[in-house]
Amino acid sequence: MCSTMSLKCIIFILSLCVSSHLSYKIRRSKGDQIAESQSVLDPGGDILLKWRVDYTLRKIQFRVEFSDKAPEYKWFTVGFSDRGDLNNSDTCLFWTDYKGNQYYEDMHADDKGKLIRDKKQNCDLFSLDKATGSLVFERDFDTCDDDDYIIEDGTVHVVWARGNDKLFTSKNLCLPCTASTDHGFVRVRLMTPLRKAKAKGQELHIHATNVKVPADDTTYWCKVVKLPDSMTEKPHHIIEYEPAITKGNEGLVHHMEVYYCDTDVSTEIPLFEGNCFAVDRPNITKTCSKVKSAWAMGALPFTYPEEAGLALGGPNANKYLMLEVHYNNPQMRKDWVDSSGFKLLVTSKLRKYDAGIMELGLEYTDKMAIPGQQKSFALTAYCIPQCTGVGLPSDGIVVFGSQLHTHLTGVAVWTRHSRQGVELPYLNKDIHYSTHFQEIRILHKPVKILPGDYLETTCIYSTLNRENATVGGNSIQDEMCVNYIHYYPATELEVCKSAVSNLALENYFKFERDFDNMSISYTAEPRANYLAIKPWTHLRAAALDTLYTESPISMQCNKSDGTRFQGDWEGLSIPKIKLPLPREPRMCPSKTKANDYY
Ligand SMILES: *[C@@H]1O[C@H](CO)[C@@H](O)[C@H](O)[C@H]1NC(C)=O
Ligand SMILES: *[C@@H]1O[C@H](CO)[C@@H](O)[C@H](O)[C@H]1NC(C)=O
Ligand SMILES: *[C@@H]1O[C@H](CO)[C@@H](O)[C@H](O)[C@H]1NC(C)=O
Ligand SMILES: *[C@@H]1O[C@H](CO)[C@@H](O)[C@H](O)[C@H]1NC(C)=O
Ligand SMILES: *[C@@H]1O[C@H](CO)[C@@H](O)[C@H](O)[C@H]1NC(C)=O
Repeated sequence: MCSTMSLKCIIFILSLCVSSHLSYKIRRSKGDQIAESQSVLDPGGDILLKWRVDYTLRKIQFRVEFSDKAPEYKWFTVGFSDRGDLNNSDTCLFWTDYKGNQYYEDMHADDKGKLIRDKKQNCDLFSLDKATGSLVFERDFDTCDDDDYIIEDGTVHVVWARGNDKLFTSKNLCLPCTASTDHGFVRVRLMTPLRKAKAKGQELHIHATNVKVPADDTTYWCKVVKLPDSMTEKPHHIIEYEPAITKGNEGLVHHMEVYYCDTDVSTEIPLFEGNCFAVDRPNITKTCSKVKSAWAMGALPFTYPEEAGLALGGPNANKYLMLEVHYNNPQMRKDWVDSSGFKLLVTSKLRKYDAGIMELGLEYTDKMAIPGQQKSFALTAYCIPQCTGVGLPSDGIVVFGSQLHTHLTGVAVWTRHSRQGVELPYLNKDIHYSTHFQEIRILHKPVKILPGDYLETTCIYSTLNRENATVGGNSIQDEMCVNYIHYYPATELEVCKSAVSNLALENYFKFERDFDNMSISYTAEPRANYLAIKPWTHLRAAALDTLYTESPISMQCNKSDGTRFQGDWEGLSIPKIKLPLPREPRMCPSKTKANDYY
């Protein structure tokens, strides 16, 4: 594409464009609501995807930038698919034929990954920016074309592929046939919220120091740090944090977290730095498990609302934090050196409210399980009106962020919200959820939750490649269903989780033993009994689903000190949403398909 000689110049021009947005040919209207973001596409960090979301026009402007190290190509395609596959993806293809003519096409791939031109072309204003070598195009959130992907809030799998083939036609071009270094995908949240004004505070940098990243596919790197004296003497608030990624390592750092060491004030934690799974990692560092900040590739800086901050330091808190960095090194390169981490913005001028984190979802127990061989099996968790009734202050709380969490088999998560039987907008919803992209997401609109409100969290799991049941639990092979909501003012209520009632579960196992001849033991843990049920026929899976959706539940309605709120939380009935939210209409001619996923 671009000759190496002029590259320095190109990069210079490019950075000018980035800072002034001169290169964007966006049609602006009054009161535009625009959010900008970017993510690398390839593990080497040579292809950068930038995008601007226009919430007024309901479209996204994309820009793909190539570094001087990016290989040359004769065709390049970028687009979307449900789970990151090239097969059945929806893409925008730029290609040059063997005579040197250039083409810009809206394509979709069939189930073998071969391209077909869409009847309706929706890669708007698709062009090659001659000055920078970047590709630019625009896409409506919903193009109303059944060949196109609908862009929604939550995880989006952005796929790309390139080739150096001499072409006379783009028809039947096979995307998965390219070398593994010539295609890939990233998970991003395209619908980033509008950026707020930058907060002012003291910077606290927490980062690794010249880590020689192991030549392994995946490394979890842990580093314990001690807070500076100024922050342990006086209570502080974290008011913003953002990633500080070592330049050039944008494709290597996959996600990061800062944890608070939740133990006695005076407990000294060794300043361990090394592989999180190292045998010499001191056991006391396991107490460093309360999330203070979390970032995943493609995520934006996280800014707290003006009236709230997350408590940090002070004389009554332990003095240590731990950084955990997940490195993703699929090419197993040996030469990565990294010093990535976080820049936290903290202040001793405490804000009006302490922010808090509350857990909605299923109990971390083996009382719930997902049958094997399921394409999509739902588990639903209930935060019932009785619990928000006793746990929340009379003015309620304001939820501004949410982090959805499952382990490996989770593919979608959402939380519904209702008040006296009338459904309100979803608290959060991700129908393309992946365990590999867990960020704390700022909600587009903060949500007020009053005492007596009802929150229902559903997780969808896919267990097609597992024979046995997948049981609830802490191990990565087990499952969870959680929505960590970030809110203010911090209250005593920390856990609002459910599971099927003990009695209903006993009866279910009794039935499986007496009428289904499964080798169930009345003295065994639920885990062993779930694993004894096999094979998971359609009938058995349906019976389990009925058990979970129709039986009474038990609740963990717990305070932050780990004790339960007073009352009998066993054998309660599942609340009903009497008036569900009408489905959001698509602004399309009537013959397009309804957007129903589950
Ligand atoms: C995608 O298509 C290729 C053939 O081009 C095939 O080998 C592969 O199995 C397909 N992948 C999936 C996930 O269907
Ligand atoms: C951590 O605890 C386990 C047992 O609980 C012990 O076997 C191991 O040696 C301990 N490791 C360290 C580094 O102290
Ligand atoms: C129940 O299963 C056992 C083996 O676990 C088998 O020996 C027995 O015949 C089965 N009974 C019925 C009624 O299917
Ligand atoms: C399934 O569970 C049984 C225990 O009931 C265990 O022996 C077996 O190894 C498990 N299979 C797999 C594939 O994990
Ligand atoms: C909730 O409280 C009960 C009773 O104190 C306890 O057994 C349970 O482990 C707690 N659950 C959580 C998640 O803290």
